[in-house]
This record gives sequence, C-alpha cells and structure tokens, in this order.
Amino acid sequence: MNNPYTPESGEVPRELAGREKYRSAFISLLDGLERGHTARSQLITGMRGTGKTVLLREYVSIARSRRWAIVDIDAVRRDDDGFRRQLAFECRSALLAVSARGHWGSEAKRASGVLGSFASVLGASSPLTAEWTETTPGAADTGQLSADTTATLLALGEAARAHDTGIVFVIDELQRLTSAQLSALIDAFHRCYLRELPITVVGAGLTDPVDEIPEGAQPPNRPTVDEVRARADRLFEFPVLGALADADAAATLRSGGSWTDGAVLTASTITGKFPALLHALGFVVWDARNTDVVTEADIENAVPEYEKFVDENFFRRDLGRVDDVDLAYLRAIVDAPAEIDTARALERTVAQCTRTRAGLVDKGLLHITKNNESVFTTPHFESFLLRTMPTLEVPARKQRRRRYDP
Ligand SMILES: Nc1ncnc2c1ncn2[C@@H]1O[C@H](COP(=O)(O)OP(=O)(O)OP(=O)(O)O)[C@@H](O)[C@H]1O
Ligand SMILES: [Mg+2]
Repeated sequence: MNNPYTPESGEVPRELAGREKYRSAFISLLDGLERGHTARSQLITGMRGTGKTVLLREYVSIARSRRWAIVDIDAVRRDDDGFRRQLAFECRSALLAVSARGHWGSEAKRASGVLGSFASVLGASSPLTAEWTETTPGAADTGQLSADTTATLLALGEAARAHDTGIVFVIDELQRLTSAQLSALIDAFHRCYLRELPITVVGAGLTDPVDEIPEGAQPPNRPTVDEVRARADRLFEFPVLGALADADAAATLRSGGSWTDGAVLTASTITGKFPALLHALGFVVWDARNTDVVTEADIENAVPEYEKFVDENFFRRDLGRVDDVDLAYLRAIVDAPAEIDTARALERTVAQCTRTRAGLVDKGLLHITKNNESVFTTPHFESFLLRTMPTLEVPARKQRRRRYDP
C-alpha cells in the first residue's frame, strides 16, 4: 500500500481536518451569488504548511462541481504590465468557460470587447490571440490598472450572470502582488460585490496583504490605504490557519492507520499539530513502523528520520535563493528578533542589514511585526536553524570596492 500521508506542499490530504466551517461558508457564498446576493468571501492567512493551498484546492473543486468558471492563479512578482497580461489571459479563459463563443449573448460579446480593450494597452505583447479582434474603445483601456480591472471584471460578471453561472478567482501566495496590483483587485471585486454580480475572489497569503501596504504607497487620486482596508473588510472574512485542534490533529494522524493515544499525544507535541509537520511525521513513521498499530515507541524511534525529512523537504524548501549572510541573519533572529539586536549580533549596523532583511521578507521567509520584530513565517523554523546552525557564525563583511583612484 502506498504511504497514505501527504507531506508535500499543496498535496491534498485524504481528510481535510477542521475546515468544515470555512467550506460551508464558501458554499453559502456561491449559493448566494447564484441567487444574486452578495456575501463575504475569504482571504485566508497562515504560516507555511498550515493548509492554505489545500483549502483553496477544495474551493476549486467545489466551484468546479457547480460548473463555475475558475481563474486559478499562483501569484508571482510581476510588473503591472505582466500582471495585466496574466489577468487578460485568465479572463479570456474564464469568458470562454462561461460560454462557448458561438453561444455568447450580448453581455458576453460586450465582455469580450472590454477584455480586448483591457489587453490592447499591452500593444504587441497582448496575450490575446490574433482572432480576438473585438475591442470596446474607451472601456478598460485608460492604462490605469485599477479602473481598467474594474471595468473588465464588471463586464465578465455581467456575462456570467447572463449565462446563469459564476466566476471565481482563486489566488494563492497573495503576498507576492504589489500594493497597486492588490488594491486594483480589491477595488474591482468591491465594485462587483456592490453590483451583486456572480464573480468573486478567494485568496490566501502568508499574512494579511492589505496590512502590508505602506502608508503613502497609493498614488494621488487613488483610494487611501484606509479605504482599501475598508473595502477589503467588506469583501472578506479573514480565516487564520495555524495548528490544528487536538481532535483534528488526531484525525489527521489516524487518517492513515491506527495510532495509540500515547502515540497521538507524542506526535502532537513533536509537530505542534501543524498540518505539514503532522503529515511529515506520519509519512516517516508509516514507513518505519513495526506493527499495524503505531505506538509511542515508533514515534520516538522515528524522530531522527523525521528531523532529517523536514529539514530537507520542508524547511529548506524556500532556502534555494539565500546566501550565507541571509542564513546568518535568520540564525541571529532566533536569539535577537528586534531589528537593532539582530544587526548587533551580526556586528553590523541596522542600515548595513536593511537589504538582507528586506530580501528575506521578499522571499517569504520573514514577516515584520508592527513592533519591528522579525518573525519566521514557517512554524518550528527556530528548531531547524538551531539544529543545522548550533552557533551563529558572523560572516565577514564584504570589502567595499574602492573607487578607481589613479
Ligand atoms: N486541514 C488539513 N487536514 C489535514 N492535513 C492538512 C490540512 N491542511 C493541510 N494539510 C496538509 O498539510 C500540508 C501543507 O498544506 P498546504 O501546502 O496547503 O499548506 P500552505 O499553508 O499552503 O503552505 P505554504 O505557505 O508553504 O504554501 C500538506 O501536506 C497537506 O496535505
Ligand atoms: Mg501553499
């Protein structure tokens, strides 16, 4: 029998434990939208490995079973043109999923024109194929991302309604969007929400992305950060995922076989009941167990293998692009999370560490709290760092290159 545990990121588990209330809220949202009533959607946040992606996968399968059109996006860092290009491409697929071209009514035809205009701003790099010649000049082609996205999504929403269906955007890794892109989406979906159109967005990110918009980031004539916040609060509930409840952790461990109560207790302590870590431990123990029932002794014997497994597969996953200074910075945070203390531990000034710190935030490894402390985005990351770097070794400072001075 294949190993029943699913430790890979985004790998859908046999049982999705403890998510029933979010599932039913999502189902009610689609129910409501199909009848012309709006309700709040969800913007899910949580540390790495807490189950954001698999919850989104569940929403995709619910929407698919109801024959909604789905725009399924893993956000990546792009400039605004790249963002517009991806949006245009995805909206095209969504419109074709709402109805085949030959069956388009007037709303869908209008949406195709608006979408053509939205993409026309990109000139030759438009992702729409040559046969997509419709445009509606004056709609969605101002070049202003927020206004153009709003016009496009409103037209798509109208088309979906006319064809008795809906469209759901499912966006993972929201923290990678820029403030302007995020607020364009919030603006646009907020307008669709007010118009009670069957088009909505459900998203997930490491932290609440609206909170990360810096003061003063919004250009003139655009909504202020407070306005974006207010719109997001109307659009979304904010489920925060973390460790599972005791019973859900036990159900997760037992989803692959029998475990004694003692084994469940020990495994819950070791993993802190975080979904990814529970599956990792289950995965390792399942391969190594001696009998059909997993006992406390099996768990204790599996700890070294478990640590090796999570170090390789979970903790190192996002460390591909970090250098020695980044690693030392992460290690320094374990004992000294305040910005000034981290810098001091590395025998540097705060200014000398600014780029390193910002880079780590950018790579999704760190989150900065309102008190300016660095916190890890991965549960149990401290233990990993302590295991792999027992002491902090301060990297030598690079010599500044001297200007050529004859
Ligand atoms: N509700 C749940 N019940 C049981 N297992 C779960 C649950 N949610 C997630 N898992 C398991 O946890 C692991 C991590 O899930 P997932 O990749 O969705 O987390 P994530 O929050 O998206 O992490 P990341 O931020 O790294 O993308 C997977 O192995 C998945 O099978
Ligand atoms: Mg994920």
